[in-house]
Amino acid sequence: MFYSRVFVPVVALFSTSLAIPQPANLNLPRQDRPDNHTLNRERADAVKAAFVYAWDGYYKYAFPNDELHPISNSFSNSRNGWGASAVDAFSTAIVMQIQPIVTEILNFIPTIDFDTTTSQVSLFETTIRYLAGMLSGYDFLTGPLSNLASNKTAVPLILKQAERLANNLAYAFDTPTGIPSNNLNFPNGTDGSTTNGLATIGSLVLEWTHLSDLTGNPLYGELAQKGESYLLNPKPASSEPWPGLVGTNVNLTTGLFVDASGGWVGGDDSFYEYLIKMYVYDSTRFANYRDRWILAADSSIAHLASHPSTRPDLTFLAQFDGQELIFQSEHLACFDGGNFILAGLVLKEQKYTDFGLALVNACHDTYISTLTGIGPEVFRWVTNTTAANDTDNPGPSADQEAFYAKAGFYITDSVYILRPEVLESFYYAYRATGDQMYRDWAWNAFLAINSTCAVGSGFAELLNVNAAGGGGYNDFQDSFLFAEVMKYSYLIHAPDNVWQVDNNGENQWVFNTEAHPFKVAGPPL
Ligand SMILES: *[C@@H]1O[C@H](CO)[C@@H](O)[C@H](O)[C@H]1NC(C)=O
Ligand SMILES: *[C@@H]1O[C@H](CO)[C@@H](O)[C@H](O)[C@H]1NC(C)=O
Ligand SMILES: *[C@@H]1O[C@H](CO)[C@@H](O)[C@H](O)[C@H]1NC(C)=O
Ligand SMILES: *[C@@H]1O[C@H](CO)[C@@H](O)[C@H](O)[C@H]1NC(C)=O
Ligand SMILES: *[C@@H]1O[C@H](CO)[C@@H](O)[C@H](O)[C@H]1NC(C)=O
Ligand SMILES: *[C@@H]1O[C@H](CO)[C@@H](O)[C@H](O)[C@H]1NC(C)=O
Ligand SMILES: *[C@@H]1O[C@H](CO)[C@@H](O)[C@H](O)[C@H]1NC(C)=O
Repeated sequence: MFYSRVFVPVVALFSTSLAIPQPANLNLPRQDRPDNHTLNRERADAVKAAFVYAWDGYYKYAFPNDELHPISNSFSNSRNGWGASAVDAFSTAIVMQIQPIVTEILNFIPTIDFDTTTSQVSLFETTIRYLAGMLSGYDFLTGPLSNLASNKTAVPLILKQAERLANNLAYAFDTPTGIPSNNLNFPNGTDGSTTNGLATIGSLVLEWTHLSDLTGNPLYGELAQKGESYLLNPKPASSEPWPGLVGTNVNLTTGLFVDASGGWVGGDDSFYEYLIKMYVYDSTRFANYRDRWILAADSSIAHLASHPSTRPDLTFLAQFDGQELIFQSEHLACFDGGNFILAGLVLKEQKYTDFGLALVNACHDTYISTLTGIGPEVFRWVTNTTAANDTDNPGPSADQEAFYAKAGFYITDSVYILRPEVLESFYYAYRATGDQMYRDWAWNAFLAINSTCAVGSGFAELLNVNAAGGGGYNDFQDSFLFAEVMKYSYLIHAPDNVWQVDNNGENQWVFNTEAHPFKVAGPPL
């Protein structure tokens, strides 16, 4: 319904030649581009309406539990029962400026008992969702959106809660090396693992450093940076197959990597993401993080960039095991285009922006090639030089040959669990180029998600993105639907603001890996 209401007047207003969006819009002066004005506002309002619908379902049937089961109108607590969806929704409700929801969450956060839980605590998940959600809300409500701080008494308590949570988590770093354990049993136990992973060690430093900067207590940042130091100086040399690209698992006792396999994929992803984001956060303190990002990015362009045999126009990043390539990627990895674009803007290096746009284009194809218009969880391809007997890189099975011939990838895990990364990269592509095409891609993805996943009182996971109607549902709505899918879907159509990614690379805010924006600490770039 919104679809036609939005499109018809706009086409009429501008020119019929715009009915099919063309990159040629770029040639128009910025203020004349059709992306700027009513069209954006109507789309932004449609995303807001979807957010409110999901929130209302969660609030009615699940709050203050972690997540809604929209079909059975029940709930679960996969994130320790501290109200994950509410805390993850906080910064989105704030940027959407929906006062009643902001007020509900603002009044709720001081009541969370972060001292107690009956299940295992993930240091990583707790940091990127709860800690970051609170710090972001605090930044906004003490900064540019302080007008939304309906309860002034509650605002300082948000930071107190972040500190309390970090104090409860801090024993994770109490290992022989200072590299944290990830899986914690409160109040002082761990699951006994002797290693931790690249992403789960390397995606804490932004949040913990920001907590230090806000509280004036340097301890938090020091803990996370100590753990990260082993990733910035990887040992042994064999764990770094190409400069900047490293293995995945690190021994908590020795600080040594125990393998050499990885990529820009789940388990490794946000380590690379945060290298450049730390530089955005503070270019003075974190210049060496930038240097490591550049090494990893240049090695990725030189060694991991890969073109499927049937679609030479597509560029994906391969995974690696040592210097052997594995032609497999996934929805999670589709943040990579956005991350290259962000770096291209802040480093003023067009080659990173261009490479990022190529990655975004290929991830867009994973969406438009399926029956639902939504991309799969995991996919593979082969190249013209892949040996027929390469067991790491099998070709498509007979039933996917035709799909592979056309799409340039074949599906090995067909679910969609409400992940945001493709929308996230569309957002960066739009912010960098101003090209209306990326807004249309994001809008079409949003419409596909809105029409396929919306069921019962919220949004549910799909079993098969390449089956009519998504092949059925899994009755679960993860908290990142609120934090990420809704936020990127909205911000790409929202007005310019200080927290939006800046197309000159002069960012005043930086988004954590769960899309919670933080005010940057360092001098402008
Ligand atoms: C999103 O889906 C809801 C139904 O769940 C529908 O009412 C609404 O119009 C849809 N939004 C758009 C923009 O299509
Ligand atoms: C939209 O247009 C106005 C002037 O018409 C301009 O000030 C503003 O920067 C434009 N915003 C974007 C995102 O292009
Ligand atoms: C405002 O926040 C304080 C501190 O959390 C709380 O005690 C009080 O009940 C809140 N006020 C309202 C009207 O909810
Ligand atoms: C861990 O916590 C338990 C329960 O509070 C307590 O009995 C025990 O002494 C603590 N152990 C350490 C090493 O702090
Ligand atoms: C980690 O290092 C310790 C000490 O050298 C060793 O005993 C342990 O087996 C190592 N663990 C792994 C998984 O490599
Ligand atoms: C692979 O070979 C086919 C047939 O020669 C060719 O059309 C295609 O462009 C090649 N793909 C790549 C990625 O070079
Ligand atoms: C694959 O085939 C090539 C020759 O075509 C051979 O040299 C190589 O050893 C084979 N590799 C495996 C793993 O069988």
